Amino acid sequence: MRTIIEPFRIKVVEPIRLTTPEERRDLLARAGWNLFGIHADDVIIDLLTDSGTSAMSAEQWGAVMRGDESYAGSPSFYRFESAVRELMPFRHVIPTHQGRAAEAILFSIVGGPGKLVPSNTHFDTTRGNIEATGAEAVDLVVREAHDPDDPHPFKGNVDLDRLDRLLGEEGGRVPLVMVTVTNNAGGGQPVSLANLRAAAQVAHRHGKPFFIDGCRFAENAWFIKCREPGQAARSVKDIVRDMFADADGMTMSAKKDAFANIGGWLALNDDALANAARNRLILTEGFPTYGGLAGRDLDAIAVGLGEIVDEQYLRYRVRTNEYIGEKLVALGVPVVLPVGGHAVFVDARRFLPHIPPLQYPGQALAVALYEAGGIRACEIGTVMFGLRPDGTEAPADMDLVRLAMPRRVYTQSHADYLVEVFEQLVQGRERLRGLRIVSQPRQLRHFTARFEPLP
Ligand code: F0G
Repeated sequence: MRTIIEPFRIKVVEPIRLTTPEERRDLLARAGWNLFGIHADDVIIDLLTDSGTSAMSAEQWGAVMRGDESYAGSPSFYRFESAVRELMPFRHVIPTHQGRAAEAILFSIVGGPGKLVPSNTHFDTTRGNIEATGAEAVDLVVREAHDPDDPHPFKGNVDLDRLDRLLGEEGGRVPLVMVTVTNNAGGGQPVSLANLRAAAQVAHRHGKPFFIDGCRFAENAWFIKCREPGQAARSVKDIVRDMFADADGMTMSAKKDAFANIGGWLALNDDALANAARNRLILTEGFPTYGGLAGRDLDAIAVGLGEIVDEQYLRYRVRTNEYIGEKLVALGVPVVLPVGGHAVFVDARRFLPHIPPLQYPGQALAVALYEAGGIRACEIGTVMFGLRPDGTEAPADMDLVRLAMPRRVYTQSHADYLVEVFEQLVQGRERLRGLRIVSQPRQLRHFTARFEPLP
């Protein structure tokens, strides 16, 4: 069959309140043209993030009821631990309330002033947690990742020569090597199995542990199956096991590829490091058999991990984004290609060339999507990255808008509606105007800055 259908039926629904463009203009003005200030009830299709927004399955809700809330030694923990180990056989699995908590614990131990932590591209919480210890986060993604039109199948790959050079020259300062799968900050692009293995080999040759930020591991494995020579006949589960086979540890946000609304973990093999991490966990998260989560959350994750490696699901999941990407390309909307696993990234700077970067073309497009169609997306550009510590501003590398797809939440007609909203914007694009910032905090301004549209 030609149509790849949603491989699930809907048993519980959440109504969407349909607003009008007039209402939304008013709501935008009240929120200072910042979409983080809009109430979710006033959003028709919410593509702000794929994190924590999954629809849980009937089996997961059943598991929530089974959750055991014992302070120590809950059976929920053991079910969670064995579900993680089924895919990623690390010796120690330490639950955390979400991904950034795992990062904070890890880097509070191995980070510190003068240290360098290389990755393909650090996600912003990972970068933040590294920098908070006084260490430096270094991005070493392959050159193809910087060209939105380059069709390279694995634009999340690490530049192995640069990694080798960095470890040769500055190895003494590097506590571990990290790779993010898929590379969220680089457009949700996958990392090949060959590159993961080679990066681990380079790290180990220099005596460094190799860690994976595994947030979207299943989407990455699906891309390996579809795109990497020799992998097509293998099961996703086997590919996942191979992805982690050479790693010494991982951080994880269960809010992505575990279908959970909250949760995460730090997993690793080194006993001394695990000990230090558990001691830290007890201070900041909780006892090591619940780590900042309720027992029921651990059970939801355990079931979610079994469901996420389902190949029918992954085929549909990745196809949804490709479908939207193809339709946008046909409309002449520039998107980052190939389309990523969890989101479609629109190149707003190229879509709105009459809006200079310091008038925030990404924000202008995100605001227009909301006004025209009630769609909420996220600017990833000059608003997010343009403010320097000394208070001056510079354009970000790119001005993108991320349309992140919650898992199992929206249907194909929601996708068609999104495309229609873009069709309308394409017709009137030269009428769209940039914005100016009227107030902003000194850090992470994208969450709370207030804007005003330029005339
Ligand atoms: N690593 C990656 C690659 C991520 O995408 C995220 C979160 C984290 C770590 C942190 O996990 O949110 O559970 O603390 N990304 C979300 C997003 C917020 O919208 O991309 P967390």
